Amino acid sequence: MIKKGIILAGGLGSRMSPITKSVNKQLLPIYDKPLIYYPLSVLMLAGIKEVLIIVNRGQVSQFKKILKNGENFGIKIQYKEQKQPNGLPEAFIIGEKFIDKNGVALILGDNFFYAQSLTKTLQNATKLKNGAKVFLHPVSNPKLYGIASIKNKKIVSLKEKPTSTNSNLAVTGLYFFDKNVVSISKTLKPSKRKELEIIDLLNIYRKKNRLSAEFLGRGGAWLDAGSIDDYYDTTSFVSAIQKRQGFKIACLEEIALTKKWINKNTLKESIKFYGNCDYSKYLRRLLF
Ligand code: TTP
Repeated sequence: MIKKGIILAGGLGSRMSPITKSVNKQLLPIYDKPLIYYPLSVLMLAGIKEVLIIVNRGQVSQFKKILKNGENFGIKIQYKEQKQPNGLPEAFIIGEKFIDKNGVALILGDNFFYAQSLTKTLQNATKLKNGAKVFLHPVSNPKLYGIASIKNKKIVSLKEKPTSTNSNLAVTGLYFFDKNVVSISKTLKPSKRKELEIIDLLNIYRKKNRLSAEFLGRGGAWLDAGSIDDYYDTTSFVSAIQKRQGFKIACLEEIALTKKWINKNTLKESIKFYGNCDYSKYLRRLLF
């Protein structure tokens, strides 16, 4: 059972400059909460209570200010720095000591997931014993993503930003790996853009017949807050759903309370910490 997860929350955020020149993208708001709450909620929904957050050099204190050591959410958060964005698989080299024999989940700090039965799908994924698992989602512009071609529900090819492809299934920023991911990541060589590539790592698993896929169908939403337009689309999506339903997406305290990882006293501490705001009002409703 995979019990640990990494959030990769560094990066240059160059597509969102100048906004990201002095602030880490993952601390910017998606509607009413920082972006990082959303990937963290995904790990928590998967049942993962031990989290490593990897951030840019010098940024740990900013993240600690809001997430602390995770105890307000009934989880344990550790932090590490990445010197520069050397690619996604570097997360497993930086996280070597954190990763245990059961393997690890990785989620990108700017990824947003919302789907029917997501919790069940995530909890199933933590049962992975050998190999790797990716989550695929249809996109309208496959040339911008890592794309998987499928035959009989199996991945037959994986290409980064293909110039031509018959598939529209993008590899999203959520992955589950067995413990071998550390040693395999160390064998990767930087690509032309001088980064270790997640597609190269996944292709190693695929060639050994150890790569499986979950399909987040068209009833679900996957967004990455990478470009300005995607960022505002994600904010609009959260705002529309929350206003309509009256529930918050990615309210970490609510997830923790439902899972009985925290009690109402801890919730009261969070309300005090956030102060007088709309988010606190929502938390107060959970006390009764
Ligand atoms: P990217 O979209 O590749 O990069 P970015 O967010 O820095 O944006 P831009 O392309 O505009 O410069 O990264 C996806 C996520 O992964 C994002 O949350 C940053 C994170 N990331 C790291 O933390 N370290 C890395 O080495 C890379 C490549 C990404």
